[in-house]
Amino acid sequence: MNEMSRVTAISTYAVADGIAILTIDSPPVNALGHAVRVALEAGLRRAVADADAHGIVIHCAGRTFFAGADISEFGKPLQQPDLNAVFDLIEASTKPVVAAIHGTALGGGMELALACHYRVATSSAKLGLPEVSLGLLPGAGGTQRVPRLVGIEKALTLIVGGRPIGATKALADGLIDRIVEGDLLPGAILYAQQLIARGEPLRRVRDLAVDLDATATREALERFRATHKRDLQGFKAPGLILQAIEAAATLTFDEGLAREWALFEELVDSQESIAQRHLFFAERTAGKIPIERGVQPLTVERVAVIGAGTMGTGIAMVFLNAGYPVFLVDKAGDAAERGAARIHKTFGDLADKGRISPEEGMRRVGLLRIGSSLEDAVSGADLVVEAIFESMALKQAIFKEIDAVAKAGAILASNTSFLDLDEIAAVTARPDQVIGLHFFAPANIMRLLEVVRGARTSDAVIATGMSLGRRLGKVAVLSGVCDGFIANRVMKPRMEAAEALVLEGPTPSEIDRAMNRYGFAMGPFQMFDLVGLDVIGWDRDNSAGRTVQEVLCEMGRWGQKKNGGYYDYDEQRRAAPSPVAEQVIREFAARANVPQQAFDDAQIVERLLYPVVNEGAKVVEEGIALRASDVDIALATGYGWPVWTGGPMCWADRIGLPRIVDSLDAMIGPDSVSPLLRRLAAEGGRLTS
Ligand code: 3HC
Repeated sequence: MNEMSRVTAISTYAVADGIAILTIDSPPVNALGHAVRVALEAGLRRAVADADAHGIVIHCAGRTFFAGADISEFGKPLQQPDLNAVFDLIEASTKPVVAAIHGTALGGGMELALACHYRVATSSAKLGLPEVSLGLLPGAGGTQRVPRLVGIEKALTLIVGGRPIGATKALADGLIDRIVEGDLLPGAILYAQQLIARGEPLRRVRDLAVDLDATATREALERFRATHKRDLQGFKAPGLILQAIEAAATLTFDEGLAREWALFEELVDSQESIAQRHLFFAERTAGKIPIERGVQPLTVERVAVIGAGTMGTGIAMVFLNAGYPVFLVDKAGDAAERGAARIHKTFGDLADKGRISPEEGMRRVGLLRIGSSLEDAVSGADLVVEAIFESMALKQAIFKEIDAVAKAGAILASNTSFLDLDEIAAVTARPDQVIGLHFFAPANIMRLLEVVRGARTSDAVIATGMSLGRRLGKVAVLSGVCDGFIANRVMKPRMEAAEALVLEGPTPSEIDRAMNRYGFAMGPFQMFDLVGLDVIGWDRDNSAGRTVQEVLCEMGRWGQKKNGGYYDYDEQRRAAPSPVAEQVIREFAARANVPQQAFDDAQIVERLLYPVVNEGAKVVEEGIALRASDVDIALATGYGWPVWTGGPMCWADRIGLPRIVDSLDAMIGPDSVSPLLRRLAAEGGRLTS
């Protein structure tokens, strides 16, 4: 190799055995921001002009090939050269250009690779077009080049689905040309030399034909639309992706590219994409927490889970999935055996559905031990997660026991969803080692993990909780101690508002429908019925018909599990509005002299969700959540808050805080409005930055 020289501050150039190597080094993920585009342009021009170079390899330093366009540049004026200008240079090169891919070639990164004449990758590399998850479409040729390489049907799956694929599949589908075993760069150079030696023509994807004609493409798009109707609901990007793919089959390449760009611009400025980009950064920002510099997470190798109920078994599965040996313990009869049976069944089902291999299922099951002795379970564990019944007395008793048998330095975590963690920690001799790890049901599915820091929890233990969350594949959000922590506390006003509103005229199904149309899979009354009216705070011994819930519970209408609740259910558990429940509600309202009126969807949304915004602001001003975006990501991942709104705080900013404050003043009274919300509204400020 001749001497390596700098092209720009983030790129180098060298020639090895007749092949120019252009290396970009822009940590952390080589996003294709302006500086990277400038570096690529300069490097390419040099390579094309260099008489010693007969081929060109584009390669990235660091952990990954280009992970996409720089998302933080969207919505700002575009600085030249843009991606398509760089790709034109690549494609027009008279010397073969080979992309050498490692890590993740995503979005604009994969599009860059497709603009190269050939592509080689390591076997561990992944390629994908995840723009859809940002409310976007590939805007640098992806929708035009992918169908030319793999056909319309596969392009639809890849681009609308947005899930990256591994190198082996990419090779089989024709997206890449070779998998390099061993070192990538020498493999890529060798491949370029072989192309030149064989006199292979420059393979410009733009010149390939799409596999289907216009009519067959439209039919394929219709089929896809029909099959994926439910998944696409509420999102704008998938529909526009279909239009861009249609353009690939019906227009020339350049016309298709122009169409793609117009559609991309439409999406980039859309509220949906702004909201989804907000959540992308919110997820990453949540990991930035105020702890002393240099504090490192503690080592966690063995885990004990106390309590083999639904939550405990779910939590055990989360750790097993991530490869941790787990001891699941329950003192009650054969509860641990029953928990283990549920775990075996879940892994068996996953294997049957092809989601994991049978060997992987066996491996996970092999990491599980069960028993009824607390000491056996806890003594060898670095982390103990308590998931027993939600009672302070019971939790304090079990924490005393755990503290006595756990090894020094072991972290004691509670999965409590409402109780005061500090009161639990106070009964132990190690309050600095006590933390909340609040999983959301079903624990093995929901992505949110609230890491609750008590008044005395040490920074090292907090750091461990947060890094553990990441290892478990969760979105870890740090919360202070309060009733309900972030997500449950912020959502509680929706429940209370729904219970109040149903007395004023709208039926449970009208309220739920407004929430469903807003984007929630379930409205409050659907949720009450699913969870069971008897378990959401019904005090059976003192029940005296004081609320609709009490009346329904006293009638034995406990929800889906018993006699229906707010809805009636048939044998298949299909819900229908319940005349009985509605009569109970109207009689109750009449007794309480509540005036009746009609509410449309928008009014219902205001009544139920503005109080949520208010509570979110309170959680931020009290320091329970570190920032408003933490509230958004917590609700999006823990409560299914529709991602195209960006979460309650982002949504509130869009509506305008003055309007929300005015409405809240009238709805709940000025004294109940968050001072932070009021101040920001007065200053023209925003909750999210
Ligand atoms: N633009 C800007 N910043 C990005 C970025 C991007 N495309 N991708 C990642 N980052 C930043 C993150 O915000 C984070 O910043 P921080 O350290 O300040 O918090 C840092 O890079 C590291 O990211 P992660 O914490 O996510 O690192 P991981 O190793 O867990 O994951 C990854 C790496 C798989 C590449 C993941 O970051 C990712 O999925 N990135 C987004 C990929 C993507 O969506 N690409 C498409 C962009 S849109 C596009 O290309 C449009 C085009 O068609 C025109």
